[in-house]
Amino acid sequence: MLVFNTIESLQKHISELPKRTSIGFVPTMGALHKGHLSLIKKAEKQNKITVVSIFVNPTQFDNAEDLVNYPKTIEKDLKLLQSVNCSIAFIPSVKEIYNENIYSESFDFGGIENEMEGKFRKGHFNGVATIVKRLFEIVKPTKAYFGKKDFQQLQIIKKLVEIKKIPVKIKGCAIFREPDGLAMSSRNTRLTKEQREAAPFIYKILKKAKKKFGTKNADTVIEWVEKKFKKHPILDLEYFLIANEDTLQSVNKKDNNKKQRAFIAVYAGKIRLIDNLSLN
Ligand code: PAF
Repeated sequence: MLVFNTIESLQKHISELPKRTSIGFVPTMGALHKGHLSLIKKAEKQNKITVVSIFVNPTQFDNAEDLVNYPKTIEKDLKLLQSVNCSIAFIPSVKEIYNENIYSESFDFGGIENEMEGKFRKGHFNGVATIVKRLFEIVKPTKAYFGKKDFQQLQIIKKLVEIKKIPVKIKGCAIFREPDGLAMSSRNTRLTKEQREAAPFIYKILKKAKKKFGTKNADTVIEWVEKKFKKHPILDLEYFLIANEDTLQSVNKKDNNKKQRAFIAVYAGKIRLIDNLSLN
């Protein structure tokens, strides 16, 4: 595996590849887990080479403490990348990416950026879109892979590519879960033993909500979920809602002709966990 820390060295290498070499790209913030590895394996199957970036992007954190505490496990990450035969790791510094201008661009994604995560994490999606656009400009991938755990992020990136006419195919990949149902996330490593034991409750509630939404409207299901979390000794609900997958607008009634999905954000102490489940 080749490891590049500068844009120049990465681009030099890419420019020397045979013309039309397909490049699969998996952008990450490191602290890699099996969910990331499944994206990488998919990228490797569908492309000649795979580039994985590891970059903890400061402009997408609305909370300075969360940025400082974001898990950094670079040695372990490199071993994991080697274990799945990744071709290239791109690990730039903040200066390499932003120079002295650690700011986000401002984007208009037609309103989907203001729902859910956008409401609770101000500026988050401008930061995500800024770094993903920058990384796409640097790597120029054929296909790029994103997990559906960050479903809203996936929709934002599809919009970004459409608006900015970036020639890359965006691939959304299934959520990878622990055996007890907890969606894999780099933040899970920060949970205390007690919080980790409590966290699978989130997926249990999503599955029960899915059953209920068959016969009850969304308002009733939301009320039920809120009650469940009010009684929970460890987990605090930030939001639970049911929305149309494409518009991300809340819906109240089940409609089998439209893709509908339940979305949830929960705090375990200071650790924020998100998850979602298709309701169709
Ligand atoms: O999902 C992530 O890990 C990040 O938001 C991403 C896409 C790597 C951009 O920093």
